[in-house]
Amino acid sequence: MQRKIAIIGTGYVGLTTGACLSYLGHKVVFVDKDEDKINMLLKGEVPIYEPGVDDILEKHKDKISYTTDIEKAVKQSEVLFIAVGTPSGKDESIDMTFFRKAVKQIAENINSYKVIVNKSTVPVGTGEWTKEEIKKHYKGKFSVASNPEFLREGSAISDFLEPDRVVIGVSDKKAEEIMLDIYSSVKSKKLVTDIKSAELIKYTANAFLATKISFINEIANICEKVDGDVIKVAEGVGMDKRIGPKFLSAGIGYGGSCFPKDVEGLLSISNSYNHNFSLLRAVSDVNRRQQERFVEKIKSVLLKVKGDIVSVWGLSFKANTDDVRKSPAIFIVNELCREGIKVKAYDPIALNNAKKELPGSVCFCNSALEAVEEADVLALLTDWPEFSEIDLKQVKQKMRKHNIIDGRNHIDSEIAKNLGFTYKGTGR
Ligand code: UDX
Repeated sequence: MQRKIAIIGTGYVGLTTGACLSYLGHKVVFVDKDEDKINMLLKGEVPIYEPGVDDILEKHKDKISYTTDIEKAVKQSEVLFIAVGTPSGKDESIDMTFFRKAVKQIAENINSYKVIVNKSTVPVGTGEWTKEEIKKHYKGKFSVASNPEFLREGSAISDFLEPDRVVIGVSDKKAEEIMLDIYSSVKSKKLVTDIKSAELIKYTANAFLATKISFINEIANICEKVDGDVIKVAEGVGMDKRIGPKFLSAGIGYGGSCFPKDVEGLLSISNSYNHNFSLLRAVSDVNRRQQERFVEKIKSVLLKVKGDIVSVWGLSFKANTDDVRKSPAIFIVNELCREGIKVKAYDPIALNNAKKELPGSVCFCNSALEAVEEADVLALLTDWPEFSEIDLKQVKQKMRKHNIIDGRNHIDSEIAKNLGFTYKGTGR
């Protein structure tokens, strides 16, 4: 049945969630305290880059509205998804400021039965906390649920509509029925759990995926010492159904708004319960060292630090996104600039976001070929398809010296070597 749903927070998660829920037939009101964002959305502009979201918002606009008035949105909706940011705080703990504010505003405006759904990634126990907080202001009936998201930037729509599973954490039957009904036309398996387990599933999934990445990056580092090929090793290991081939691509490490935050978040949750999660601490340390190691690799091929030019392809944390949050590429370029190395950088869609995170000494280029002009080293940092399709002969003609350091094992090393490039991959 069509449900009346409020989405509180119009970032990557909120907009994707609301768009997909309207696609599933529900009435959706987006709420954000940021008037500029709401005004952009009212004009049909979408403040994030996520393929397909703008089309769905346009196609289902008869079911969608946008407002900064959370009171009205709470009163007119039956299900309230909280999708506000829960960023890393100063000490890498989880900053719950926006979340607490959203819960308080719900508590102050709730006027009838609602299901309050935590879509944001929140510490274990937040569901219970939300219940207690609302009870302080409202004596009527309501339910709380945890419905963690497993959306990857760049493929968020398909991850929402065709997920591996929908996790529904509830503590009462009515909330369970409503949540199952909301997702009834999503074919995937629904896993109903208690609220705390649902909250933990999200952190555990991201922390485990980050662990796979740091593990294969360490194997890549061993491959470099024994002259092995980590791509072959990952292929062979990934054929084991218990391991699987995904998230075994060695490179400069993981970034983004989730893995770094969720690894640190799970560590801070463990610490708060006096559990020393040493394995996960190592995952985070390996990821940082992988980026530092890559800077050393670039410096090792520069004849002289001053004067040489490094061309950088890719600034976002991965391909198909403009998001530069915790991007390893941003860390690497900042380190190169700190050492006085001249950097020419190109990214297909993240240049504007990257400019806010990088020093003015960086030369921002409008094409991959412009970025390699007169360069001594080409450092590939994100695996955009265009970077593996480019004509390396043209690249070679434009470069001063012919070094390629491939941070994502994305360029065909045989072609590069046959053209006379000195090619260094990651673990190969
Ligand atoms: C991730 C999770 O995949 C998603 O389920 C969760 O909801 C949010 O966080 P996202 O951060 O968008 O999604 O990107 P993802 O595709 O998972 O990549 C994360 C980082 O890991 C990127 O920096 C990527 O370059 C890196 N990565 C990924 C690797 O280095 N190697 C791999 O094999 C896979």
